[in-house]
Amino acid sequence: MKPLILLNFKTYPEAAGKKALPLAKKLEKVKTKKYQIVIAPSLPTLEEVAAGSSLTVYSQHTDRAGLGAFTGKVSAEELRKIGVKGTLLNHSERKIPFSIIKKIIADCKKHKLIVVICASSLAEAKLVAKLTPEYLAYEPPELIGGDVSVTKAKAEVIVKAVELVKKISPKTKVLCGAGVHSREDLQKALQLGTKGVLIGHAVPKAKDPAKFLRELLG
Ligand code: G3P
Repeated sequence: MKPLILLNFKTYPEAAGKKALPLAKKLEKVKTKKYQIVIAPSLPTLEEVAAGSSLTVYSQHTDRAGLGAFTGKVSAEELRKIGVKGTLLNHSERKIPFSIIKKIIADCKKHKLIVVICASSLAEAKLVAKLTPEYLAYEPPELIGGDVSVTKAKAEVIVKAVELVKKISPKTKVLCGAGVHSREDLQKALQLGTKGVLIGHAVPKAKDPAKFLRELLG
C-alpha cells in the first residue's frame, strides 16, 4: 500500500464553494507512482468534486445517520452513493463523543467507507485504536494551522503512537498531521514509521498548489 497524502481543504476560501473543483482539477495533474493522493473537500462540494475530478475523495466528517429523518446530517450511506470513498472522523475541529464514533464506524464499514480517525493525544490514540480503523491520524491541535511541523515538534510522540497502535490494532496505519508543509516533513513522517500525512492549509494557501504538491512529493 502506497503512503497516503490526505489533503484536507477544510473550508478555506481558496478551496471551498466554487473554488473546490478547480483546485481538485489542478491537483489531479500531479502524477505520482509513490504516493496515494486523496482530497477531503468541504461537505457542500463533495458531490461535485467526486463527480468532476479523478482524485479519490474523502469526507471531512460523517454523522451517525441514515437516509431518512436526519435533518442536517451527513450519512455514510449518502456519502457512498455520491462517490465518496472514505471519511475523516473525530478531527480536532470536529470532535465526536467516543460512544458515537463507534456507531459511525460501524456505518462506515457497512457502506464501505475507509475511516481515518483522528487523535489529538497518545491517550486518545490508545482509545480510538481499539475501534480498528483503517487509518489513525495523530494531530496535536496546538500545531494545526501553523508552520511548525508535527514531525519536528513531536517526533518522539509520533514514534510512540506508531508503536502503541501497532500493539492494539496491527492493521491500522498511522498518519500524522499539523504544520506539514515540505518534502522534508513528509520524508521525516515516513522515517518515523507513519504511512502518510494529513495536510491542511499549506495546499490551498500555496501560490501554486499543484507546484507546491509536486515539490512536496519530490
Ligand atoms: O487535517 C489536517 C490538519 O488538521 C492539519 O492542518 O493546516 O496544520 O496542515 P494544517
